Amino acid sequence: MYDFDKVIERKGTNAYKLDLREKYFGTEDLIPLWVADMDFAAPPEVQKAIQARSNHEVYGYTIRKEEFTEAIVNWCKYKHEWEINKDWIEYSPGVVPALVFSVLAFSNEGDGVIINTPVYPPFYSVIADNGRKVIKNSLINNGSRYEIDYELLEQQAALETTKIYILCSPHNPVGRVWTEEELLKIHSICKKHNVLVLADEIHSDLALFGHKHIPFASISEEAAMNCISFMAPSKTFNIAGFSTSYVVTANDKFLKGYRTTQNRLQLHMGHLYSGVALTSAYNVGKGWLKELTAYLESNVLFIEEFLKNKLPELSFFRPEATYLIWIDFSEWSLNQKHLKEFLAYKAKVGLNDGLSFGAEGRGFMRLNVASPRAVLKQALEQIYESRQLL
Ligand SMILES: Cc1ncc(COP(=O)(O)O)c(C=O)c1O
Repeated sequence: MYDFDKVIERKGTNAYKLDLREKYFGTEDLIPLWVADMDFAAPPEVQKAIQARSNHEVYGYTIRKEEFTEAIVNWCKYKHEWEINKDWIEYSPGVVPALVFSVLAFSNEGDGVIINTPVYPPFYSVIADNGRKVIKNSLINNGSRYEIDYELLEQQAALETTKIYILCSPHNPVGRVWTEEELLKIHSICKKHNVLVLADEIHSDLALFGHKHIPFASISEEAAMNCISFMAPSKTFNIAGFSTSYVVTANDKFLKGYRTTQNRLQLHMGHLYSGVALTSAYNVGKGWLKELTAYLESNVLFIEEFLKNKLPELSFFRPEATYLIWIDFSEWSLNQKHLKEFLAYKAKVGLNDGLSFGAEGRGFMRLNVASPRAVLKQALEQIYESRQLL
């Protein structure tokens, strides 16, 4: 049994989630439920592996050996029933940097890149900061979940200048796990119009409530040849402070193009601990992840129940994956600036501004449920109590 109820003091560790509160919210005095990392200890097995390596007093240039790719191959098979070859894998310094390298490698300035909005904010900058055009394919809220607008996708993919589609799978922030049928539709449109799929699957190990993540590249051989997958144990095992991400593609041309760009930017070296953290997490973290998943599910249910009883005007679709929930505050009828200020200064709870995910996020805020239950309870009580000040 692992103890996810334990409240761990993160102050003094330069944690983004805590130490950027002043900059992001204008105050330190709030419960931070924003940045997507967890307030839980990493699996003890991973801690031990890191400590064991740090006990050796030389921290020189370090390579990743066979055990790195082997751990990835085994994990993809165990967790996603996805058979990959170790020669399809390349280390990356981060999923976001890897998306940038791919955009640089497989499109030209002025080309279009499709994303499903609202979406993880760096997707916009990955595209726009590199001189490409953001093509927004807004997700459709069908009243019980978000879906992709295929008609629009077809029109957007058909544009001469559209070269890439960045798929967020599972989707941050709306929490969808795309079904096989949905992935097949995406593939058939992208294939038909020669649009490369970059599948960001960083949240793939965190499918909840019986949902099953399907790697985009696993749906067919043809899809595998038209895709680069981006994965990492960083979200899964709360080790985002290490560089543990990697890309997978069965298509030699894409792997070569990816490597060329990463090497050209001299970012292939990596981090001393990336191999240690990834291999220990994947090789011995299975039991921990099972317990974590159950804890996250119970946190989601706890929040659902709390809102139903005490704040029924706030709502969210139960996430199919991720530890993030996308809460609709629109019934409060506050403009976004006031909503943000109200939550930060009156409720003293730090959530991500829905608008930072795109215009569709107006009236929404994203809440990170990966905290001990007592912390979530306190945050919800504060929102409940402050509501009378509305
Ligand atoms: C969809 C998505 N991709 C990528 C990342 C970050 O990846 P990295 O830290 O490896 O750059 C996040 C973090 O929240 C994310 O939600």
